[in-house]
Amino acid sequence: MSILITNIRQLVQVEANPARFYAGAAMSDLRTLDNAWLHIGEGKIDGFGPMPVPDTVPQTGATTLIDAAGRMVFPYFCDSHTHLVYAGSREIEYIDKIRGLSYEEIARRGGGILNSAKRLHEASEEELVDEALPRLHEIMMLGTGAVEIKSGYGLTVADELKMLRVIRRLQGLTPLTIVPTFLGAHAVPAEYKGRQGDFVKLVTDEMIPRVADEGLAAYIDVFCDRGFFTVEETSRILEAGIRAGMRPKIHANELDMSGGIQVGVKYGALSVDHLEFTGDEEIKCLLGSGTMPTVLPGAAFFLGMALAPVRKMISAGLPVAMASDFNPGSSPSGNMQLILSMACINYRMLPEEAIHAVTVNGAYAMGISDSHGTICLGKRANLFITKPIPTYSYMPYAYGSNKVWKVILNGMIEGENPE
Ligand code: NIG
Ligand code: FE
Repeated sequence: MSILITNIRQLVQVEANPARFYAGAAMSDLRTLDNAWLHIGEGKIDGFGPMPVPDTVPQTGATTLIDAAGRMVFPYFCDSHTHLVYAGSREIEYIDKIRGLSYEEIARRGGGILNSAKRLHEASEEELVDEALPRLHEIMMLGTGAVEIKSGYGLTVADELKMLRVIRRLQGLTPLTIVPTFLGAHAVPAEYKGRQGDFVKLVTDEMIPRVADEGLAAYIDVFCDRGFFTVEETSRILEAGIRAGMRPKIHANELDMSGGIQVGVKYGALSVDHLEFTGDEEIKCLLGSGTMPTVLPGAAFFLGMALAPVRKMISAGLPVAMASDFNPGSSPSGNMQLILSMACINYRMLPEEAIHAVTVNGAYAMGISDSHGTICLGKRANLFITKPIPTYSYMPYAYGSNKVWKVILNGMIEGENPE
């Protein structure tokens, strides 16, 4: 199938030679093309330019013509951090939070991640697939085209494998690109209380080899933070993961100056995520490392946490990616348009910086920026046409409403929101 889109008011994030990610001042340089056309062939972007469409571009035959009539085209959002396979919901804890309990207090009472683990244990693979599919469809219609999904609500060998198999099944059931991450060390199950070392051993000696045998995950994650896993435990787990062929991508510095950023960089993590507790040392360590600092505005918003020092990070020359953290405990939303608005309003990012954070930098943070994240010749045709909007800044500005109109993934029209 080939598609020709004409009369595009503005093509957003066009790049002739895209970098794998954008850092510091380069994040505010957003390339656009006004009054444009774009052609898709065999699932890839194979031409674009200013109107009129040149004669060399096929306009009849197998080509589907879309007159964008002044709408904009964006590359699909790349959400590099989610836990969107889960069973049930946790609004009871949400009420506890409103009453004043902290995330850690809820976790200590057997709520939090352990609550989701219990529910996941009781759910079958089919039920988990059935719960996840509408979530994937919802985020697709909101502009997410690629998503990382973590395990981590299993916490036993069998249930971690179950989660990862569900993620694998989802890959075949949706047009979204799905990147799987193994997060066996998400929390310590109650039966391992007081013998956390034994649980770490279960992760390194039993879970990791099984996950690797079945080729179920590209990345390995650890919740390296106060009250969860120490730097030393994280090191052991990452070493075992790396030996099994997985690259680290870790939860770090959400609850404290945990050393998570440093241990992530030391082990060549593709990203370190959360980062509410980031100081000068951490910034220095990240500079030039190839590790993408990833901020999760939804979790900070939902838990009422201090905000990661994003302006300071960008001024220091770091790149920043932003992701939804879609999960039932700390961010029950995968709406990346809302993340864009939070990026601008809460973190004082310019719309240009925020758009880089949720597209190409997010793609880098899940290892797919060669094929995703910008409008570029040869890249996968994952893009959406907006409803009529006046400028790209309207995207974060008009928070709370869905600005996506037509959904094109892998060169196929996958849906359309009512205008
Ligand atoms: O990224 N911080 C750790 N893990 C998740 C929360 C998971 C949960 O509460 O279920 C997060 O916020
Ligand atoms: Fe998370």
